[in-house]
Amino acid sequence: MPNISFDRASVAYDSDVILQPQTFELSEQRIGIIGSNGSGKSTLVRMINGLIEPSSGTVRYNGLDVAKHGKAVRRKVGFIFSDAEAQIVMPRVRDDIAFSLRRFKLPKAEVNARVDDMLHRFGLADRAENSPHTLSGGEKQMLALAAVLVIEPETIIADEPTTLLDMRNRRRIIRELTSLEQQVIVVTHDIEMLADFDRVLCVNDSDIVFDGPPRDAIAFYTDLMDRLDAEGTPGGNYTDGPGF
Ligand SMILES: Nc1ncnc2c1ncn2[C@@H]1O[C@H](COP(=O)(O)OP(=O)(O)OP(=O)(O)O)[C@@H](O)[C@H]1O
Ligand SMILES: [Mg+2]
Repeated sequence: MPNISFDRASVAYDSDVILQPQTFELSEQRIGIIGSNGSGKSTLVRMINGLIEPSSGTVRYNGLDVAKHGKAVRRKVGFIFSDAEAQIVMPRVRDDIAFSLRRFKLPKAEVNARVDDMLHRFGLADRAENSPHTLSGGEKQMLALAAVLVIEPETIIADEPTTLLDMRNRRRIIRELTSLEQQVIVVTHDIEMLADFDRVLCVNDSDIVFDGPPRDAIAFYTDLMDRLDAEGTPGGNYTDGPGF
């Protein structure tokens, strides 16, 4: 599996600390990130592919400093958001998947073959010529996954991939994500999906407050929320609802 390493990596905007300095490595196959709204989860995972740069310290992906080699790292690390609609870039489903491959400069036949493969795998073959905006929410999330997997990334990061889905599509996305051979890092409030994960980090108030097996992490998180409730303290750094 790929190795992700944070070395005293922190994020601050002006004087607001969004993430305290973190030092840890991730090399398991399935890693979950849990924690309350505004605690810093999205910030943490966005640092892995350089969508957010650390204000201090370093993040490395397989030894490459993400701040210096963002482009190379983004070829290896695919990212999917909760709001699949926001990831649509092209007017046809087929072209939306193909668009991810533009920077690889592959022969047209190979692009077509890879896109067809994804269309079939994610049940989108008969929607290939349609506008992505006409797809259902679940289909849009499948499209987002297809558009990421077509580049054959080594790591897939999904930031709340099931949040906007109904039960059936939620299960389908969970099934797809948990059957991938690649490294998968999932930020979620959907705690059930983490049961068979290798490792779960719990983020609270700009810091990683627990790191361990799913059962222990979930127990820790539940207990933390109970304690904060009892104190009447608002969780995390809540400001304006689920961020993307
Ligand atoms: N560009 C920015 N400038 C200032 N503050 C920011 C910026 N981006 C995020 N924040 C703040 O950083 C904190 C952590 O945000 P982040 O999106 O990482 O939280 P999260 O744990 O993903 O929350 P959620 O569960 O709601 O998605 C929040 O208080 C947010 O308002
Ligand atoms: Mg978030």
